[in-house]
Amino acid sequence: MSPKEQILQLRDELHLHNYRYYILDQPIISDFDFDQKLKELQRLENQYPEFFDPNSPTLRVGGNTIESFKSRNHKFPMLSLGNTYDLLELEEFHQRVEKGLMGEKPSYVPELKIDGLAISVTYVSGKLAHAVTRGDGIKGDEVTENVKTISSIPLVLQGNDFPEEFEIRGEIFCSRENFQRINELRIQEGEDIYANPRNFASGSMKLLDPKEVAKRKLDCYFYYLSSDFEIGKTHFESLEKAKSWGFKVSPWTGNPIPFEKISSYIDQIKSIRSTIPFDIDGVVLKVNDFSQQKRLGFTAKVPRWAISFKYPTEAAQTTLLGVTYQVGRTGAITPVAELKPVFLAGTTVKRASLYNADEIERLNLYLHDQVLVEKGGEIIPKITAVLSEQRDLFASKIEYPTHCPECHTPLQRTDGNAVHYCPNESGCRPQLVGKLEHFVGRKMMDIQALGKETVAQLFDAGLVRSVDDLFKLTQSDLLPLERMGDKMVSNILEGIERSKSMPLERFVFAMGIRHVGETVAKSLVKAFENMDALMHASKEDLLQLDEVGEAIAQSVVDYFSLEENRKRMEYFKSIGIQWEKQANAQALSTLLEGKKVVVSGKFTQFTRDGIKESVELNGGKILSSVSSNVDILLAGSDMGPSKLKKAQDFGIQIMSEEEYVNLIEQK
Ligand code: IVH
Repeated sequence: MSPKEQILQLRDELHLHNYRYYILDQPIISDFDFDQKLKELQRLENQYPEFFDPNSPTLRVGGNTIESFKSRNHKFPMLSLGNTYDLLELEEFHQRVEKGLMGEKPSYVPELKIDGLAISVTYVSGKLAHAVTRGDGIKGDEVTENVKTISSIPLVLQGNDFPEEFEIRGEIFCSRENFQRINELRIQEGEDIYANPRNFASGSMKLLDPKEVAKRKLDCYFYYLSSDFEIGKTHFESLEKAKSWGFKVSPWTGNPIPFEKISSYIDQIKSIRSTIPFDIDGVVLKVNDFSQQKRLGFTAKVPRWAISFKYPTEAAQTTLLGVTYQVGRTGAITPVAELKPVFLAGTTVKRASLYNADEIERLNLYLHDQVLVEKGGEIIPKITAVLSEQRDLFASKIEYPTHCPECHTPLQRTDGNAVHYCPNESGCRPQLVGKLEHFVGRKMMDIQALGKETVAQLFDAGLVRSVDDLFKLTQSDLLPLERMGDKMVSNILEGIERSKSMPLERFVFAMGIRHVGETVAKSLVKAFENMDALMHASKEDLLQLDEVGEAIAQSVVDYFSLEENRKRMEYFKSIGIQWEKQANAQALSTLLEGKKVVVSGKFTQFTRDGIKESVELNGGKILSSVSSNVDILLAGSDMGPSKLKKAQDFGIQIMSEEEYVNLIEQK
């Protein structure tokens, strides 16, 4: 078989397996075999780029990054739907439909109203041509490359009875389980969590890196076709056709029914809502018959033949058992409502966020109050109302504590600040441990061998109280500790040593100065260039910076005016912590110009970030994972065998640290 034939055959096979796996949920080969075939195809495509196909199954992992999104007109405007929360209004809608049809009795197709983002995908000759977001309904953003990474959206259709060109609309969403998994990862990595699956899905379509979109494992159900020619005689038929061409149509879509049966569909979906693996906000009714749809037509904004019925936000009533107060690493106090466990929208709720003292005051909370909690998409539920008429006569009002629940120091609250703080920075356990955890975090000093538990262990053993103590640790301090082997000890000590050469902005972020996050740390380093200058900056100097307002400037000045912190800084300087802003990303060479490089494993002459930076300064571009796009795998020691194998399979150049150093030194 010629390479071309091989490529074409593999593509056909993979499209089919993809369809069997993602649409039918009936795979006929193992994941392993699928991956092998995909790799083989990727290898052949790399070797024979002349057979490029914009709809190859290899594009599921995401192609090149996009510069910006182009706007594109919809051939058929993307309308919205009328909606109601009220069964009586639904009845009125039906009466208008009947009247519009001169008394004819319509059938309706009942569907889920999926809470995601609408997408319109155009297929030409059975191939995905482009995908556009709703935008203003007339034109939207073309997000084709991002959409191609969604495995349940076909790149190439099955069968042959589809129109030469048509648009199909659907809803892109993220399942609750997947959303939870992604947020758990974010928490582990010390990053902010995403608010809800819908914002996450729509934010994903705006990413410029399709590879990043691919990782998010979004999904899509289709619910509406438009073309110059009618597809079938009814909406239901058109969905059946769509299914036969390989589109995923919601299995909760009902058969056409008369209006009298709609309320039982609504009740049924309501009762199983928590078992549906993604968020919905109601149901949609569509007149089934196309000729009837045509007679009814559209208003300026919405079809007269469809409507959505929305469920009211789910709330549950429960008892407030008490309020606990968590102390964060900066000393900020967060009040949390402890609730009698109650089942709400699929999970058991035991706690709700109370934000700050003002919120408690606003709710006028008393102990053992009956409260209403709502989830509204967010993961942490909130209290939306207090049923004060059911309050016990002798109940006591929730009083905000005056002292820290952990160390009993009087709390402080500065003017204009909603949050209370415990000022005992040097003696309050959660603050001290929290600061240590922050310091070693992935985006700060990145000392990976020091996880949460180990940090607490070191603290409780009295070995480490503040971040400078980390650098005084020795092998003989660590070895006697429980669960601590030779390997672990050397990993910890090496990690600490390596962290000394982290870029200055990471160190500034790692110090945990109140209000100084990653972005502010970067701009401080950019402006002051070295630690000494930053330490001596006045409030006026700081306020010159765009990103720095009153609160940040005051916090930085306060931090460095404390004797204790100044001493600590002297110590850090003495042990050789990176004190200067790194020579401004001035290109060193063009030896790696245009090369895409993945860095993996450990290096002897560089930290992981150091070698990445070096690659960039020599013209290379860093990618995060091995794919057919990568040119060079820069392989350190202790690299995972699967990555190496993957790189070999893709025919990627594998370079050792030594080879790399030789290469860049030849300049
Ligand atoms: S039909 C002309 N069906 O709801 C037909 N829309 O409020 C218009 N939506 O923009 C859309 N599930 O993003 C339709 N089963 C469903 C839907 C659905 C969710 C979204 C869609 C639309 C919005 C209108």
